[in-house]
Amino acid sequence: MKVLTVVGNRPQFVKAAAVSRHLRPEATEVLVHSGQHYDRALSAVFFEELQLPQPDHMLGVGSGSHAAQTAATMERLEPLVRAERPDAMLVYGDTNTTLAAAVVGAKLPVPVVHVEAGMRSFDRSMPEEVNRIVADSLAGLLLSPTKAAMRNLRAEGLGERARLVGDPMADVALELGPVADRRSPVLDRLGLQAGGYAVATLHRAGNVDEPAALRQAVHLFLAVAERHGPLVLPLHPRTRLRLEVDGLGVRLEENDAIILTQPLGYLDFSCLLRNARALLTDSGGLQKEAYLSGTPCLTLRAETEWVETVEAGWNRLVGLDRERALAALEELRADRLPAPDPALYGGGEAGAGCVRALLEWARKV
Ligand code: UD1
Repeated sequence: MKVLTVVGNRPQFVKAAAVSRHLRPEATEVLVHSGQHYDRALSAVFFEELQLPQPDHMLGVGSGSHAAQTAATMERLEPLVRAERPDAMLVYGDTNTTLAAAVVGAKLPVPVVHVEAGMRSFDRSMPEEVNRIVADSLAGLLLSPTKAAMRNLRAEGLGERARLVGDPMADVALELGPVADRRSPVLDRLGLQAGGYAVATLHRAGNVDEPAALRQAVHLFLAVAERHGPLVLPLHPRTRLRLEVDGLGVRLEENDAIILTQPLGYLDFSCLLRNARALLTDSGGLQKEAYLSGTPCLTLRAETEWVETVEAGWNRLVGLDRERALAALEELRADRLPAPDPALYGGGEAGAGCVRALLEWARKV
């Protein structure tokens, strides 16, 4: 069996690493990198640290508007899929790369398998929500990370195509977390003590492309740093760019309690997260990585797809509200919360589960 995997963004490299190592003994995998993420810090470093095989094809799509990025991926991917003639295409998550690959597969047609199926924020103003809905409706096999995702798919009439396999990102977090603690020099490099700082990330379009929202986020970070000491903020290139445009970056740079860094590799970020007293983020993936690390999370959005982390008490939705964030930081203490349960995300077996489900499904189609 020949499987063509399409990746392009940072979180997809992590998920694909967990699946690829179980897939390669069973099938021929052709790995395609769209090039949506191209900076070394967002791309190459993950291939190295996670031992993801080098891509067989680079589409070199780069940055652009949603339409431009999606169209360029489709245009460059289609002839390649025709030439490779795979039996199935494997797509991950909810990015423009996912959308483009799902549409190309569905139209050629090549059966599409969607990993991380069924996640919903129920907010269609998020580009990711649109991408997921399209990918889920086109894919022939829907591999879901959580029970909540399975419920969403059943509610949309897609339950028959869905299998609960767990979350491949959790496999990597569970395996590499302790390695990161041993190997990463990040705490020393930044002059931090375990438990003595918080870490924050921000990159969602809704938070960084809207000047008013970005200003609110900056004020929230300043308030947290002032009240609770060091706040480490690894800056996604998109966020760095927006901070320059609005002159807000200077406010952060001038504050001694805020440590701005480049985007970090997997091991450095894991180490930072696992030893932080809290995470503040608008990322999806990091909410559950925080949970699995036993680090309380404040989600800088109004809703989340990873509802179990909220139900378990480890994650609080605070939006960009400074007061809510400060109150949540006081209340959420790791030593007062029930121990995290990795089984919620497949207990480290999701990559193997994806491949089992894929092979079983392929025998039937
Ligand atoms: C994308 C995904 C998002 C995912 C995130 C993971 C979509 C719609 N969004 O967001 O769901 O959570 O990846 O990080 O697909 N840039 C660089 N270097 C790079 C990549 C991007 O400088 O290697 C800058 C460019 O200015 C670019 C901007 O970041 O315009 C945004 O990049 P883009 O790929 O459009 O989306 P992300 O914000 O990374």
